Amino acid sequence: MNNLLVFFTFSLLVCLSHAIEVDFCVADRSLPRGSQGYACRDPATLTTDDFVYTGFRGGRTITNVPGNNVTLAFVDQFPALNGLGISMARLDFGVGGVIPVHSHRRSEVIIVSRGSIIAGFIDTNNTAYYRRLEVEDVMIFPQAILHFQVNVGTTPATAFVSLNGANPSIQFTMNSLFGGNLPADITQQITLLSNAEVMRMKRAFGTA
Ligand SMILES: *[C@@H]1O[C@H](CO)[C@@H](O)[C@H](O)[C@H]1NC(C)=O
Ligand SMILES: *[C@@H]1O[C@H](CO)[C@@H](O)[C@H](O)[C@H]1NC(C)=O
Repeated sequence: MNNLLVFFTFSLLVCLSHAIEVDFCVADRSLPRGSQGYACRDPATLTTDDFVYTGFRGGRTITNVPGNNVTLAFVDQFPALNGLGISMARLDFGVGGVIPVHSHRRSEVIIVSRGSIIAGFIDTNNTAYYRRLEVEDVMIFPQAILHFQVNVGTTPATAFVSLNGANPSIQFTMNSLFGGNLPADITQQITLLSNAEVMRMKRAFGTA
């Protein structure tokens, strides 16, 4: 067996077993990520600061077209989450700002801390569940289901979310269709849009 294979096998075993063999497994991001997460840092090198994330502090500026500013606390930003099946994000919205329709591998719970948003999801039967949420309201988005948020208030809005995975991923539907490497003719065929509509969207995402 070559050394690389030994190394990957070892990393995988470390990742698979840490949930029951150790109290925590702060990610060693200098090593490759496995399907179960990262290998653990040596506990002797850890301090309390490794278990604290301060990235949610302060105000946010909103400059992008959707009018949002998303701050992730997934395992890549907060390595202490590795293997614990949990993560967070802070969502900030300008007036009229949105988080466009997207999905994650994992389920999500949201709590609004400022302003007023419409939050919703669309199930696999194409039924939409959506309503206006006020400060301190909580809603869930089931795993892998398309969902979205829209600031419908007259002030900026902020919400915090938690997901039951350390690396839950974010797939924005529109970016996948129009902002990636899918050729325009295939996009057109699989969306039933016109060429002009596809090209308008690809220009908006900088891919045409
Ligand atoms: C989000 O807000 C922070 C703090 O103002 C800023 O540094 C960052 O560039 C903003 N990100 C986006 C995508 O606008
Ligand atoms: C699916 O949606 C239709 C309406 O579009 C509704 O009549 C039906 O009850 C829904 N089925 C389920 C299982 O939710």
